[in-house]
Amino acid sequence: MAETLSAPPQVFTWDEIKRRSGKDPERWLVIDRKVYDISRFHKRHPGGSRVISHYAGQDATLLYNQMKH
Ligand code: HEM
Repeated sequence: MAETLSAPPQVFTWDEIKRRSGKDPERWLVIDRKVYDISRFHKRHPGGSRVISHYAGQDATLLYNQMKH
């Protein structure tokens, strides 16, 4: 039935991801082609807010995989 189907994935441009990760508190980042809104999570990131926030607006796949996440 139609209501049991999941919605198609939302697609974002890099332009929007970068715009959402400016100086304001909003922060998005990309891992494995998926967009994460870390606006709130960055404060609770066990590795620290600084390191994760550094990758706001960017593709953090490589580093994410290098860490033992
Ligand atoms: C949405 C994305 C992310 C999530 C959900 C996440 C989650 C976590 C979690 C659960 C831990 C604790 C792991 C443990 O104690 O075994 C951790 C640690 C850590 N994370 Fe992330 N993380 C993310 C992105 C990143 C990114 C982009 C970096 C950039 C390099 C990063 C760097 C680190 C570091 C350095 C640690 C500490 C590792 C340690 O203490 O050995 N994380 N993260």
